[in-house]
Amino acid sequence: MGKINVLSFDVANLIAAGEVVERPSSVLKELIENSIDAGATEVVAEIKRGGVALIRVSDNGCGMDKEDLPVALQRHATSKIHGKEDLSSIMTLGFRGEALAAISSVSEVTIITKTKEAESASMLTSEGGHVIDITEVGAADGTTVVVENLFYNVPARRKFLKKDATEAMNVAALVERVALSRPDISIQLLIDGEEKFKTPGDGDLLHTISAVLGRDFAKKTLHIDGEANGIRVTGYIGTSENVRKNRNLENFFINGRYVKSLTAAAALEKAYTSYIAPECFPACVISLSMSPSSVDVNVHPAKLEVKFSDERPVFEAVYHTVRRTLESAAYRPEMTLGKDALKDTRTVGAFVPLGEKPKGEQITLGATPPPLRENPYRTPPTRPSYDAPVSAPRTVSYAPPTQRAAGHTDIPDRLSVASGAGHTQTPEMTPRESLDLLRAYRDASPAPTPPPVARPTESAPTSAPTPDGQTPATPFTDTSYRYVGEAFDCYLMVEVGDDLLVIDKHAAHERILFEEIKKSHESDGRVASQSLLLPLPVSLTPEELSAATEYQSELLSVGFEYDLDASGVSLTAIPDAIGASDAADLFVSMTAEIAAGRGTPANTEAIRREKALYQIACKAAIKGGRHYERPVIDWLIAKVLSLPDIIVCPHGRPIAYRLSKRELDRRFDRIK
Ligand SMILES: Nc1ncnc2c1ncn2[C@@H]1O[C@H](COP(=O)(O)OP(=O)(O)OP(=O)(O)O)[C@@H](O)[C@H]1O
Ligand SMILES: [Mg+2]
Repeated sequence: MGKINVLSFDVANLIAAGEVVERPSSVLKELIENSIDAGATEVVAEIKRGGVALIRVSDNGCGMDKEDLPVALQRHATSKIHGKEDLSSIMTLGFRGEALAAISSVSEVTIITKTKEAESASMLTSEGGHVIDITEVGAADGTTVVVENLFYNVPARRKFLKKDATEAMNVAALVERVALSRPDISIQLLIDGEEKFKTPGDGDLLHTISAVLGRDFAKKTLHIDGEANGIRVTGYIGTSENVRKNRNLENFFINGRYVKSLTAAAALEKAYTSYIAPECFPACVISLSMSPSSVDVNVHPAKLEVKFSDERPVFEAVYHTVRRTLESAAYRPEMTLGKDALKDTRTVGAFVPLGEKPKGEQITLGATPPPLRENPYRTPPTRPSYDAPVSAPRTVSYAPPTQRAAGHTDIPDRLSVASGAGHTQTPEMTPRESLDLLRAYRDASPAPTPPPVARPTESAPTSAPTPDGQTPATPFTDTSYRYVGEAFDCYLMVEVGDDLLVIDKHAAHERILFEEIKKSHESDGRVASQSLLLPLPVSLTPEELSAATEYQSELLSVGFEYDLDASGVSLTAIPDAIGASDAADLFVSMTAEIAAGRGTPANTEAIRREKALYQIACKAAIKGGRHYERPVIDWLIAKVLSLPDIIVCPHGRPIAYRLSKRELDRRFDRIK
């Protein structure tokens, strides 16, 4: 007897549905695309409980005739193409005639629709793809599709869904991209009854960007418009300050469709070479318009990928348009943006612009908080702005840590360490105390000191007293030393016995702190954190926000406490060792890394934790190129000498280098 069965219609439908409808965001994508294809100028998208309980998309488009309603739910039923010749000239977002069939086969669907000509609206209800009822109802022109109880009949798929908040973030990311693709359509997103954003639909892409990605993002963009090889490239690209640690803000639309295009991304990144740091990625909202015959959109069930008949012209068009814009922007004067033009209606992953009050309880501080940083984009550049190093002002508001005392610049009294040249003993200071001391300096002088040539040298020795005749077994075990001086504000020269020790001060301090933080993590199960007096809002992409939601306990273990509500992330406590803006940076890069590496074998919790610990140590450590007072230097030297087995920093670089007197004597022909 034969073993091959022909599957039933229902089972075949469920299998096909799996390709199109993977999660709530894929349902939203299909429904909004249908609204766009229907010529709508206003679309309202709404979800409840991550989209599992309810998804509703309403539009003011052309609507459907009553007799078309049940047909729309059938597979391969579409009004957008007729024959195979149409496949080479697709200008609509949909064309496969599969979406409503797939969605309705895994949920309960209600469609209310009315054309302009019809006297009343029609309402269809269905369950698992089977039409239950069609009646006449009163409703405005357009279509509303309601999807309830998603995957009620596919328990395996339902189990596979993430937490409601994570699904909601995915929905937000998806709807944001669709909104960016059509500035001529007003798109509103509501999550659990709360408006996340609403685009004006006035046809101005910059206004849409402002509504979706925030006003601050929109301000740090450059308009692009170019044409090459019959391909028009338009949109906005981020300035060199507006960069990310991943590709999440590289948005490409081809003939109005959001796609993941490796060719366009490669061209964009190449064009930014030398304008941004190599480890950063640009941000963009770029639309490519080209003949539909030179791009195949029918290569992916969710239509997220496309195939170009020839990739080279696409690469060139993007590369040259972006590069030209960056080159001419380097001399462009300040960009002026009208206040009302950039109305920020966004509340998800929201950036709280500098100068606006952060959310949460407002506490009046006795001491005046540090002044808010000016928007650097508004400062006229004294040289081409793209030559400037990417010292990237973060998209965070600043709230000072509780124990940060304004004006605390003095070195604590108890640190009475012998200054000037001469033998010095280990000062009594723990790594923790050294951090407090450093923090005081950091607060007092946040900017690096000028180059060393301009700075008078401190207490250089006039004579070189010989050590007490003892020869240490290794240069790292003797705590008795003479500080000779510092080269290039980076390398400490220390005479120890018969050796000259050259210490990389940043690498050494980083390693010491790393050991300390690791030890405290091992004993307490978490990194010590400091509470913030005011919550510190941090701007995250929806993907990063979903990582922050899912990995909250992991992030807590490295010192971050934060409130996650519908309006975004606010840090309430940060790792003890670092300042607020470093902490915000670290938080963004950690969530970005989690989001980018989810599920990859090399991205385990242990690896992420280790990396976080050395990033904390790196940010907290004293910096090369910056001047520090003697007590800090003395503490560091003594610490290095007392730790004989530490020879490399957490990145694997050496922390100290030894040159013996004998070797020097030999080089100067004093001895043979
Ligand atoms: N919001 C809407 N307004 C008007 N007509 C609609 C709407 N949604 C669906 N339709 C009609 O229902 C048909 C079927 O929709 P469906 O999404 O299943 O297929 P499609 O959009 O043609 O192709 P694809 O599967 O690629 O999305 C559409 O071709 C269109 O005629
Ligand atoms: Mg469709």
